Amino acid sequence: MRVSAGSDHAGFELKGLLIEHLAFLGHEVVDLGTHSPEPVDYPDFGAAVGQSVTSGDTDLGVCVCGTGMGIAIAANKVHGVRAAAVHDVTSARLAREHNNANVICFGARLLGTEVATDALEMFLRSEFGGGRHLRRIEKIAALEKRQA
Ligand code: RB5
Repeated sequence: MRVSAGSDHAGFELKGLLIEHLAFLGHEVVDLGTHSPEPVDYPDFGAAVGQSVTSGDTDLGVCVCGTGMGIAIAANKVHGVRAAAVHDVTSARLAREHNNANVICFGARLLGTEVATDALEMFLRSEFGGGRHLRRIEKIAALEKRQA
């Protein structure tokens, strides 16, 4: 799978560890920055990851900031992105099965490395459930069209 990754300064270190793990699992990773621990603004990186996914350049995205929330809010402004701030393996699985999330977001100040790594693995191997969940995803897409 081709996966894009982005973070702000707070997520820089965890992003690096997650990228290493993705490469170890055999995925192709596109690192969209940030590339140092110098302070930056998380919306820039959430948007970059979102755009890489919706353009089809990558299959899924991984975002990291301090809480996982700001970068998820930013990524979700890109139409077609369904970014989920995830806290554990269960929320990672349900984000794919119920929400067909295409971007996973972590809070580096909230999660340990192993929890984030396990959750990311679960996210990558889980699949959208379809059925009633598809109807709901379509309603989210319709909301975007109303605002276009
Ligand atoms: C940066 O200090 C912090 O605000 C950011 O990483 C994130 O937690 C925002 O949601």
